[in-house]
Amino acid sequence: MGEAKLYRRAFLATSTAAFVGTGPSSSRALAGTDEGNFVSLGKIAARRGMQFGFALNSRRLVNDPRYAAVVAQQATIVVPENALKWAAVHPSPDRFAFTQADTIASFARANGIAMRGHTFCWHRSLPSWVTQTVTRRNAEAVLVDHISRVAGHYKGAIQSWDVANEVINLSDGLPGGWRNSFWYEVLGPSYIEIACRAAREADPAAVLCYNDYGLEGDGVNGANKRAAVFSMLRALRNRGAPIGALGIQSHLRAGRAESFGPGLARFIRDVKGLGLDIYITELDIDDSGLDPATSDGIVAGVYKRYLDLVLETGAVSVVLTWGVWDTPHYTAATPGQNGPMAQRPLLFGPGGSVKDASWAAEHSFARAPLLPPR
Ligand code: G3I
Repeated sequence: MGEAKLYRRAFLATSTAAFVGTGPSSSRALAGTDEGNFVSLGKIAARRGMQFGFALNSRRLVNDPRYAAVVAQQATIVVPENALKWAAVHPSPDRFAFTQADTIASFARANGIAMRGHTFCWHRSLPSWVTQTVTRRNAEAVLVDHISRVAGHYKGAIQSWDVANEVINLSDGLPGGWRNSFWYEVLGPSYIEIACRAAREADPAAVLCYNDYGLEGDGVNGANKRAAVFSMLRALRNRGAPIGALGIQSHLRAGRAESFGPGLARFIRDVKGLGLDIYITELDIDDSGLDPATSDGIVAGVYKRYLDLVLETGAVSVVLTWGVWDTPHYTAATPGQNGPMAQRPLLFGPGGSVKDASWAAEHSFARAPLLPPR
């Protein structure tokens, strides 16, 4: 029996324990060794009725054949990490820059992989021409034009669009917990519905998604944010806005008391009860606070517990990690964003090497409830 299988069996035997001493030495190159029999997470997820994939950087897709090979092997869905944000795709009032996102779209099409779009209404990555020239008078027209052009360009090629991202921010103290963002200032709380209707018009086939972070924690902050998001989604549904899914970003942190738990599972079922699909859209696990010698096992344990918790609801149909393989960088959960970086926050090691977390995900997907065909 290959070392990989022995290794996998060892991992499964102690799947809930932190893997002291497994560390970086546990990763192996993907092709050409025993790890060659590591199966595709996308294929395993598909057997349970789900899609699995990554956020992509279009330049790496072009310049790094190994990166492209790992994505083609492992993913059944991808999303551009930055190429469809306003700053990248609509840098000036009369110019749209589709090249980067087109690269990802043609790669996805060529490999039979679905694609998500991220994002239309967000308080970040807005080019200065928007914040300097868009006012209450022309905001709706500018927003609808942007969505018609961008969603229209990818009509029929996008599985789901993050129509709005990170709209709820309780600390701003606004009614309903809305963030005091640029879009809120110029359009008030109607901007999500305006964006949904414009996206539906431009691409009737795409599922329209609301995406947010900070929904995972079982503490009071997580509970309050989930309540605000639930009320906002229910109100949109009650008004007949064509919203069809919720994206739970899932930027987690290892090495501290587990923050996610039954509250998140209940929330997922409640949102499903509104008739919405549930996606895990930006999964990564900050390990900046861990000892690299033991981090792999600990991170794998968090992946396993989180994926088991959300997949066991039988309501999560899409899972993406925010990147393909490990590189030192700040995840959205890395404290302070100027201290130690996360080192190995993703499911695959450098070059797509298999590590404990790869097996953790394989195990969770393989054991997930079978989802009914959509
Ligand atoms: O493309 C420009 C380049 O031309 C310029 O030379 C360079 C230097 O300023 O900036 C480049 O743009 C950067 C862009 O990433 C592409 O690399 C932006 O400055 C930088 O702010 C942007 O960071 C992205 C960030 O969102 C803001 O859009 C991160 O890569 C991306 O991982 C992060 O992703 C967000 C999700 O969209 C929403 N949820 C949280 C998540 C993590 O923060």
